[in-house]
Parts: sequence; structure tokens; C-alpha cells
Amino acid sequence: MNSDRESVEQAKQIFDRILDNRKYAGIIKDDNHLALLLGLADCGGADRILDIGTGTGYLAFALAERFPGACVCGIDIAKRIVEKNNAAALEKGLHNLTFEAFDGLTYPFPEESFDLIVTRYAIHHFPNAADAVAQMNRLLRTGGRVLVSDPLRNETDDSGIIDDFMRVKQDGHIRFYIAEELEGIFAENGFMKEKQIITEMRFPFPQKAAYIELYDKIGDKDRQLYDMVNENGVVWVKHIAVGNTVFVKQ
Ligand SMILES: C[S@@+](CC[C@H](N)C(=O)[O-])C[C@H]1O[C@@H](n2cnc3c(N)ncnc32)[C@H](O)[C@@H]1O
Repeated sequence: MNSDRESVEQAKQIFDRILDNRKYAGIIKDDNHLALLLGLADCGGADRILDIGTGTGYLAFALAERFPGACVCGIDIAKRIVEKNNAAALEKGLHNLTFEAFDGLTYPFPEESFDLIVTRYAIHHFPNAADAVAQMNRLLRTGGRVLVSDPLRNETDDSGIIDDFMRVKQDGHIRFYIAEELEGIFAENGFMKEKQIITEMRFPFPQKAAYIELYDKIGDKDRQLYDMVNENGVVWVKHIAVGNTVFVKQ
């Protein structure tokens, strides 16, 4: 089992390399999903917005453009992409958008610095989700919101087969959460659920023997949880639910 720091280091090594790779960016880009998140983010006049695990800034750039009166900051452990994003923001004349690299564990901002925190497809990499959510509480003003979007573990996936597949990549994947588990973590840290929209996504695992071995090892019942198929040597997850949830700080 990796320590928190080792997990972050593992994630950093991979994400610094792949984030601006066109194929990877294509897999996680989804214009309909982006539009949905922008709609969910349009709540309560947020002037100061933080995007945690911003990556290429897919959501942060869109937020800065949609809400020109707001200051948007994207943070990530992947230093190279942060530098690239800052150059791109300057080039686009987006003076309300900045990016910062950080250590992946401690958010480097004072109390009540933000009105809205967003995080897309990243919380499953946070080594300690409860600690991250407690820090989000510290960073938000009372009444501030968190919009968290992440694939959900199927509630009958008792052994976490989806996480076994995800960990093959060795990109610091910690785990996907069952919807109620995530809601519990937020509730325990002073948040109330305001809204939730469930979407879905599908993705392939790269052509690799380890994925085929796992696929062959699990039974039909487990494959059906995520509609997994082997298409000519590539294992696909054809259906995984994504929770897009807004929590309000009490
Ligand atoms: C799947 S990508 C999603 C990127 C972006 N949010 C998007 O929707 O395109 C996951 C991101 O989480 C970042 N990440 C991984 N571990 C992290 C951590 N402990 N804290 C913050 N970000 C982290 C990665 O560097 C990567 O940019």
C-alpha cells in the first residue's frame, strides 16, 4: 500500500506526461458534460472559484469565459501542464484565470478564500478524500458550494473490481466512491447535498495483457456491473455512472 505522498508522486509522474496527449485529452473531453457542469456551477453568484485537479483546465477555462466577473484558479500536481495553462490563459487574454502547482495534499490558500470549488474526474486520485473535503470546508465561505463530478462505483461492486482495473495504470488511482459514501464524507464535513445529476461515461483500457487477464478472471456478473466487453483485445467499460453533485457548506 502506497503512502499518501507515494500515491501523489505516482499520479504526478503519469499525469505530467499524458495530460496534453491528444488521445488522452480526447477521452476525458465531453462537451455535453462540460455544458452540464457549467449549468450546475451557475449558482449563488460565485466570484472566487477553485478547480482542484484542473488538468488541462478543461473546466477552468470554460468557467473563466462563462463568468468573466469571477476569478478562477486551477490547481494541480502536474507542474508542466500548470505552466502551459498559464501561458494559454495569457494568450487568450483571460486575466481572471490563473493556475498553480501544489503538493496534492494541502490546498495552499487561507480560510474562506472561495465561493465555489469544482473538481472533475479527480477526487478518485485524492489520497485522503475526507481530509480533502475537510479542507474544502475551510477554504469556502459559509453558503459556498462544491461541485464534484466523478465516476461512481456500482453499489453492488462489493470487491471493487472497477478499482482493480483502474489501478493497473499505476496513475495514483485511489478508488471510485459509491454515491452514498461520497455524500457521507461531505455530510461529515459540514456540507449538505443540494443537487445531483447522474450522467454516464464509457472508456477503453489500453491494449494490455494485464487488463485481459483481469477481464478473464472476473465473471459475467461483475462484467455486467459496468457493461464490460473485450473488443478485439481492448477491454471497454461501456457504462459507468458519473455523479455530478453540488454540496453547500452549512
Ligand atoms: C482525469 S484528470 C482530470 C483533469 C480535469 N479535471 C478534466 O476534467 O479534464 C485527473 C487530474 O487530477 C490531478 N490529480 C491527481 N492527483 C491529484 C491530487 N492529489 N490533488 C489534485 N489533483 C490531482 C491529475 O494531475 C489530473 O490533472
